[in-house]
Amino acid sequence: MCGIIGYTGTRSVLPILLEGLSTLEYRGYDSAGVAVHQNGLQTVKSKGRLALLEEKLQARAHLEAATCGIGHTRWATHGEPSDQNSHPHGTDRLALVHNGIIENYLEIAAFLVEQGYTFSSQTDTESAAKLLDYHYAKSGDPQEAIFKTLAMLRGSYALGICFADYPERIYAVRKDNPLIVAKTPTGALIASDVPAVLAHTNTYWRPEEGVLAVLEKDAVRFFKSSGEEVSQKQECVDWNVAQAQKGGFPHFMLKEIHEEPTAISQTASAYMKDGLPHFNLELLDTDRLKEFRAIHIVACGTAMHAGLIGKSVIEQLCRVPVSVEIASEFRYRDPILHEQDLVILLSQSGETADTLAALRHAKANGVHTLAIVNVIGSTVAREADSVLYTLAGPEIAVASTKAYSVQCTLLYLLALRLGLVNGKLSAQTVREICEKLRVQVPAAVEEVLKSCDKVRAAAEKVVDAEHMFYIGRGVDCALCTEASLKLKEISYIHSEAYAAGELKHGTISLVVDGTPVVALSTVSSVAEKMLSGIREVASRGAKILCVTTKQISEQYDLPADIHLVLPEIDELLAPFPAICVMQLLAYYVSALKGLDVDKPRNLAKSVTVE
Ligand code: F6R
Repeated sequence: MCGIIGYTGTRSVLPILLEGLSTLEYRGYDSAGVAVHQNGLQTVKSKGRLALLEEKLQARAHLEAATCGIGHTRWATHGEPSDQNSHPHGTDRLALVHNGIIENYLEIAAFLVEQGYTFSSQTDTESAAKLLDYHYAKSGDPQEAIFKTLAMLRGSYALGICFADYPERIYAVRKDNPLIVAKTPTGALIASDVPAVLAHTNTYWRPEEGVLAVLEKDAVRFFKSSGEEVSQKQECVDWNVAQAQKGGFPHFMLKEIHEEPTAISQTASAYMKDGLPHFNLELLDTDRLKEFRAIHIVACGTAMHAGLIGKSVIEQLCRVPVSVEIASEFRYRDPILHEQDLVILLSQSGETADTLAALRHAKANGVHTLAIVNVIGSTVAREADSVLYTLAGPEIAVASTKAYSVQCTLLYLLALRLGLVNGKLSAQTVREICEKLRVQVPAAVEEVLKSCDKVRAAAEKVVDAEHMFYIGRGVDCALCTEASLKLKEISYIHSEAYAAGELKHGTISLVVDGTPVVALSTVSSVAEKMLSGIREVASRGAKILCVTTKQISEQYDLPADIHLVLPEIDELLAPFPAICVMQLLAYYVSALKGLDVDKPRNLAKSVTVE
């Protein structure tokens, strides 16, 4: 999604804006632009990568003296990627950058046309900018004009605004979209995401919805629409710049996969006390937990796939029914919710629009909501009744990897806690599994990482495929959905995940000579059935890549063209090393194809629009 950065202070603003925008590249974008104060507002915009914007700026050397401005990376929603549609938008009086969607922009545009305004872009944002100009022209008061404008906007926004009349000031406000404000020794910043300010500070404010931030080089102040000045809570992250950079790896994705052992062990350790799961949440640490009749896990994409693993483990260990729902469906399909249900929202960013809407829907229905989120203080985290943070650190690559693993880690811990309180598991059993989760799992993932070369060699054998299949049974089937998503999103190879027993009900007609089929087999109780499924596709000429546990590899003679054996681990925990193999496979296929691994086409890191 789009990225916002802004700075006012004593330093030259352009390097700060460009560095900030480059840090935000991971969110996905197709054009970029800046507006800086230098004898009036100077706006420079360019379709395409940041390098093209930088080229244009080189021809405007006099802008180097500017010390206040805003910048934006745009991910097109309304109007194609083009110079004109790029942000900032505005007039001679003001420049505005926007993340989100203004739903009633056509209505606003029609009103403004009647007032004599003309439009040069196809964006919803230009309507907001010109509406602001309309109000500012009337009152001459930025604050009043902004609040009058907000009152007329429907939709979601994070806005950064500069007025030509106030060359050292930035205004910022948000609704249903992330925005942070930070103070540094040399000035003040706005940004859509924490990594963009980490080079300057690790403390920031996340203004409440509708609270206007006014930034000047010496002060940051916050105002309500009534004009009353208010204070906002300052937050702090312990991430540093190095964590938000590649650290010697060719891509963020590979770096983040390598961070999985640490992320898993940190997350597991943080939620254990005396060897048992402990969440420091009244609801999850008492008998109330066993009152839940059913659990709904609601999320999007990879997070939803982690939910499928959660369903498998919670139902297996606790016999509590779990449904896993795609957030964009849940919010509109009027799901049957009961006050004794628990709704779990899973999200790396905590800003995904559909997940947030699903959370609000569940709350409106009086159901307890628990957020499992990676970004501290994000909207989902703040609005849920209870929150548990995954400790993955910043995830920059668009393709989610370590966030998935830690979401699974927390869902395992939750399953263990639930099993304990409802008497399905003994304290001894739970303690043993906890210990394995904390120690054995990170070690097994580490071992997979040591044998990256084998996965790379396997990737070489499938890199030219047009279609691929992933098959598995039980929890492996859930893992395959994520393995398949990882492959298609970054390698652009079409792939499908199938329950191994379901393939023959239609899809097997697509398997022809040489079609790669990745067969995941970690569940010993159905290993023999998996073998039949593998034979079915092998006999149709499929190229078989088997990923199995050591035990299954020793017990069965698998017709594999390539065979990757997972490190030894308790079968219940095999999904962790297994997904690591699958993530690496997708990574190497994409890298071998020379694709932009961290920024796949059409995708955005944080999907803050519906
Ligand atoms: C895929 C991926 C997406 C996200 C999804 C939800 O690699 O990252 O499918 O998982 O957009 O995002 P969060 O977890 O931020 O809610």
